[in-house]
Amino acid sequence: MAQPLQCPVSHTDYTRESEIYGHYALLDAEREKDRFHFNDTTDRGFWMLTRYEDVLAGFQNWQEWTTDVRTALFPKSGIPLLPQDLNGEAHQKFRKIINPFFAPAAVKRMSELAHSRCIELIEEIRDQGHCNFVAEFAIRYPTDLFLALLGLPVTDGEFFLPWSENMLNCMLQGDVEGAGVWQAKILAYFDKAVEERRANPLDPTEDMVTRLLEAEIDGQPLTKDDILTTCLSIMLAGLDTTRSALGYIFAHLASHDADRQMLVDDPDLTKDAVEEFIRLYPLVIQAGREVQESTDFHGLEMQQKDVIWLGIGSANRDPRMYPDPDSFVLGRPGLNRHLAFGAGPHRCLGMHLARLELAAVLEEWHKRIPNYRIKGSEPLIERGSQLTLENLELEWEV
Ligand code: HEM
Repeated sequence: MAQPLQCPVSHTDYTRESEIYGHYALLDAEREKDRFHFNDTTDRGFWMLTRYEDVLAGFQNWQEWTTDVRTALFPKSGIPLLPQDLNGEAHQKFRKIINPFFAPAAVKRMSELAHSRCIELIEEIRDQGHCNFVAEFAIRYPTDLFLALLGLPVTDGEFFLPWSENMLNCMLQGDVEGAGVWQAKILAYFDKAVEERRANPLDPTEDMVTRLLEAEIDGQPLTKDDILTTCLSIMLAGLDTTRSALGYIFAHLASHDADRQMLVDDPDLTKDAVEEFIRLYPLVIQAGREVQESTDFHGLEMQQKDVIWLGIGSANRDPRMYPDPDSFVLGRPGLNRHLAFGAGPHRCLGMHLARLELAAVLEEWHKRIPNYRIKGSEPLIERGSQLTLENLELEWEV
């Protein structure tokens, strides 16, 4: 473990669950107490960068601080991911293959599907007058769209969804063996889909699996393992994050009547609202990095192989960057510089898709269910590591 003598030591275990917003309170307190902390809750420990400018600099220092560690909380994940695990030129070449499928123009092509699937799911629950928003909507919606993105039947969501949930939960608890069991099932499922596409290729400019099958890097085709790992990685990166964002957004709107009414009255504000929600409720609270060469970062001496926590959750709520950071403020200056999607070469591949999905839900939901509230008075619980609300019971008049 690196020497924690140069700054205060944090014993806060960020993998623990808490009441909703509990993690932001802990992060805010640490950021304001000192510029850097050394956290000793994992085997290797990690240097915590928490202020906006430092976290941004960390993302930009990609030559020296690499994704050989992807999360500071579980530095040895044991599950390969693509493109996440690549760095430098190799990463650039890989992203070039898949970037076009996630560019704004390509994502726009998914808009119709995003809206129609959203409407179907809302109509299923509207007459009930209540729902567990997480289980009955927020988990199902991004899964269906992900399957469509890969050209797979949305009806497969029924069995695919629990597999992906279980795998991610194992990973977020550091249970590599458990994650491996679910990973094997998911890879076998993708394998069938890839073979089907090999036999019946589609237009590689529109179909991602066909593109992966035809793509070459330095004259070499991608291996089968690489193709399957890419599908798995996009799934892991895209499903839990989107459903978690939906949970926090709807928890906010269900308890802030004026904000909800504003979006109901003026749906044109939805895009800006989505961006501010993403800043305000960052669920990927940190990205991990590993130091490749000993370095001095503003007086903090880091050694090769040290682990770094790039504190997205505290940077996005840093008052030095965003005045009144814990409030929802439409049109705040500098909003488009928030770090919820990361920054630098590993910046979120799916950010345009995430924005589209979230905006579609807000628009379609509010057309059909404009008034809703949180059911009951039990405190909402958020998972640690990568934040999510396990449950969100909503109710409305029918
Ligand atoms: C609100 C939703 C989302 C949030 C908050 C989010 C957040 C992030 C963050 C912070 C990173 C950077 C991690 C790092 O630098 O180590 C990232 C990377 C990534 N995201 Fe997202 N994400 C979201 C949705 C999505 C979706 C919908 C997809 C795809 C369907 C996706 C796919 C990816 C991939 C593949 C990467 C790795 C990029 C690389 O390493 O080059 N994400 N995301």
